[in-house]
Amino acid sequence: MSTFRSDLLDGQVAWVTGAGSGIGATIATTLAAHGALVVATGRKADRLEETAGAIRAAGGRAEVAPADVRDPAALEELVRGIGERHGRLDITIAGAAGNFLAPAASLSPNGFGTVVDIDLKGTFHTCRAAHPLMMRGGGGVIVTITATLQYTGTPFQAHASAAKAGVDALTRTLAVEWGPVGIRVVGIAPGPIADTPGMSKLAPGDVMDRVARAIPLQRLGTRDDVAQGVLFLVSPAASWVSGAILVVDGGQWLAGGLGQGLMP
Ligand code: COA
Ligand code: NAP
Repeated sequence: MSTFRSDLLDGQVAWVTGAGSGIGATIATTLAAHGALVVATGRKADRLEETAGAIRAAGGRAEVAPADVRDPAALEELVRGIGERHGRLDITIAGAAGNFLAPAASLSPNGFGTVVDIDLKGTFHTCRAAHPLMMRGGGGVIVTITATLQYTGTPFQAHASAAKAGVDALTRTLAVEWGPVGIRVVGIAPGPIADTPGMSKLAPGDVMDRVARAIPLQRLGTRDDVAQGVLFLVSPAASWVSGAILVVDGGQWLAGGLGQGLMP
């Protein structure tokens, strides 16, 4: 159940990376349920088709455009296609990411680099690819999906914390550079969200219960909690919000974050 009008995004085109699963899939279906035509990106076409199928079944509009966010040329080509087909791009959600738990001392350079390549460089490639078409239409909103891991010292998350700290810096910098052409750049920082690949990787088994109990609001987040935050950020209600990162975590990081929960 959304608190926003179902025609909030009528006539708008939204590009969502990481749309084939988890939080990105829910953001994609939510944007479509509020009128946007969604272009769904990720590596696995079959999972994108599932998201697009769910959108169409609910009466919305969706296209599948598989790509790896580590390939900037592929993303530029993809956005050129959006321009040819629709002539505009109003909303970009940079949600693609990869993560795993790994002690820093045994994490290989390629393991660290892979997460930085997907999360940080992939977010840059996505924003950079979106910029010309968004600018041509007079602007729009870019939402990066970041995290709260990097606000504290989260063990076994050196790679993801470093990458997401970079995403935060990128979000603020692009907000300053691209504000004058009408592009708002904002971030959303989810805490632990139930029923997502990210959370099952970071908090397997009973760790999940301990994590939930330590959250001030006494529950894990839902994918819809994040999607509703995104709707606010892309709505006219946030038309003077740029460079901000909206934390949606039930107060978790202020109460200590994931840190102690992950230590043996
Ligand atoms: N622990 C330690 N290192 C790991 C690891 C783990 N669990 N998983 C992968 N790595 C290392 C690999 O060993 C490899 O390094 P090496 O060449 O030195 O051995 C490096 O990371 C790249 O692994 P690879 O499997 O080739 O990368 P990929 O590009 O196919 O996949 C991942 C990227 C690893 C992030 C993969 O988990 C993924 O695709 N995740 C997407 C979904 C996801 O993680 N969602 C969670 C929410 S963010
Ligand atoms: P998820 O479902 O695994 O989402 C990640 C998505 O990124 C997948 O759909 C994956 O699809 C795509 N992806 C991965 N590597 C890619 C690449 N190289 N190119 C293109 N797409 C790629 O996990 P999630 O837990 O919902 O996380 C979604 C976002 O929220 C991430 O940015 C994550 O860091 C953030 N987040 C999640 C939580 C949480 O509690 N779950 C907390 C904080 C932040 P393919 O494998 O098909 O490419």
